[in-house]
Amino acid sequence: MYNEIVVDHFSNPRNVGEIADADGVGETTSFKCGDMMKLYIKVKDGRIEDVRFQTYGCGAAIASSSMLTEMVRGKTLDEAMKITNENVAEELGGLPPVKMHCSNLAADALHEAIKDYRARHSAK
Ligand code: FES
Repeated sequence: MYNEIVVDHFSNPRNVGEIADADGVGETTSFKCGDMMKLYIKVKDGRIEDVRFQTYGCGAAIASSSMLTEMVRGKTLDEAMKITNENVAEELGGLPPVKMHCSNLAADALHEAIKDYRARHSAK
């Protein structure tokens, strides 16, 4: 059902955890399955310097989040905002159609974290 890249990322997920002094935090819940994702970013000079995630999601959600964290490190916030769940699934070499919604968790949590960062930043 899953290809090697997906299996590698959910067996050995990258960047799992929390950033205690995160600059932005995004949280999302899947409307399809009720699973949750929390994603933390550190931003320096307009770029994502560090990123971590925690999830109560399935293997596809873990693999998507792991891949996403690898994709966004070093990107500008505008570049990161443009990343879609389809981009994440493509980088993973594809996900089964019934699991595409799982990749939404990662992309949505990232976008929420960037919005949170921007809200905190503009409030200063
Ligand atoms: Fe819920 Fe995959 S089934 S995130």
